[in-house]
Amino acid sequence: MRARRALLYMPGDDRHKIEKALTLGADCICMDLEDGVAPSRKAAARRTIAAALGELDFGRSERLARINPVGSGLEADDLEAVLPARPDGIVIPKVETAEQLVWVGERIEAAELAHGWPVKSIRILADVETAKGILNLKEIATAPRLEALIFGAEDLAADLGAVRTREAWEVFYARSAVVIAAAACGLGAIDMVSVDFKNLEALQNEAAFGARMGYLGKQVIHPAQIGPVQEAFTPNEPAILRARQIIEAFAEHQRSGSGIFTIDGRMIDLPLVKAAENVLARAQAAGKL
Ligand code: COA
Ligand code: MG
Repeated sequence: MRARRALLYMPGDDRHKIEKALTLGADCICMDLEDGVAPSRKAAARRTIAAALGELDFGRSERLARINPVGSGLEADDLEAVLPARPDGIVIPKVETAEQLVWVGERIEAAELAHGWPVKSIRILADVETAKGILNLKEIATAPRLEALIFGAEDLAADLGAVRTREAWEVFYARSAVVIAAAACGLGAIDMVSVDFKNLEALQNEAAFGARMGYLGKQVIHPAQIGPVQEAFTPNEPAILRARQIIEAFAEHQRSGSGIFTIDGRMIDLPLVKAAENVLARAQAAGKL
């Protein structure tokens, strides 16, 4: 499992923010060509991203570029500019069909072959953030090369005519559908942005809720959001201890022939063991084991 607890965006034409991102310990650094960049700055952003990928050391952070939506008319130039600089992955926004992912996958494969890089070494992550995207999750999630689904609440609310609230019940069905589709297809799921970036208490609550839903991480837009988000998506010591206790006790009871047993007055059976294994997998991905 790859740690994608905090996926930090910055406008692709902003070299200062890209350089700053390298110092922040974000799991993923996503240089944007889409909504974070004005139409008149798209060409500058393509050049800035390609140069940054070629020149800068991103350390352990995943190097991602978000292109414009497939069908926008900008996507082919975006890919042509950033693929030769070999990002770790491409983020595709407003995905509505599996064909859009297949189209990008073919462009990526052509670049991999042309440069002699291993085929399938460049990943795809898909933003699902429209009503159509949510309806088509089942086919989108099975597209080849796809590693993660990203849930976009602001775009979805705009598409629905919904009003965004801090509680986020207006997008709850979609937020839930994305994490379910990801689990069904063995993908990671990355939760919505908290746009109110100065309110760290609201961020902590929203991140904790996303983690409880099964999300592996959250999109962030400001350096101050990285720490709280990473904390929310990293199992803490008591959770790790308890997971270990459950797994060890289960193994012992299996040896003695009983499938169900209790710890501290609670029934422990296979689903709880599986949940405990999830906790340890997340802790390990976060470098805590
Ligand atoms: N990535 C990297 N560095 C960032 C950053 C980001 N997303 N957001 C802010 N910073 C840097 C600033 O450049 C500044 O650096 P400095 O101290 O060296 O000058 C520092 O962090 C503090 O920034 P601050 O002044 O608090 O924020 P701001 O008012 O400059 O910017 C935003 C606020 C929202 C415009 C900015 O955070 C941003 O551009 N976020 C990303 C938006 C985006 O990409 N949206 C599209 C995807 S949803
Ligand atoms: Mg969006």
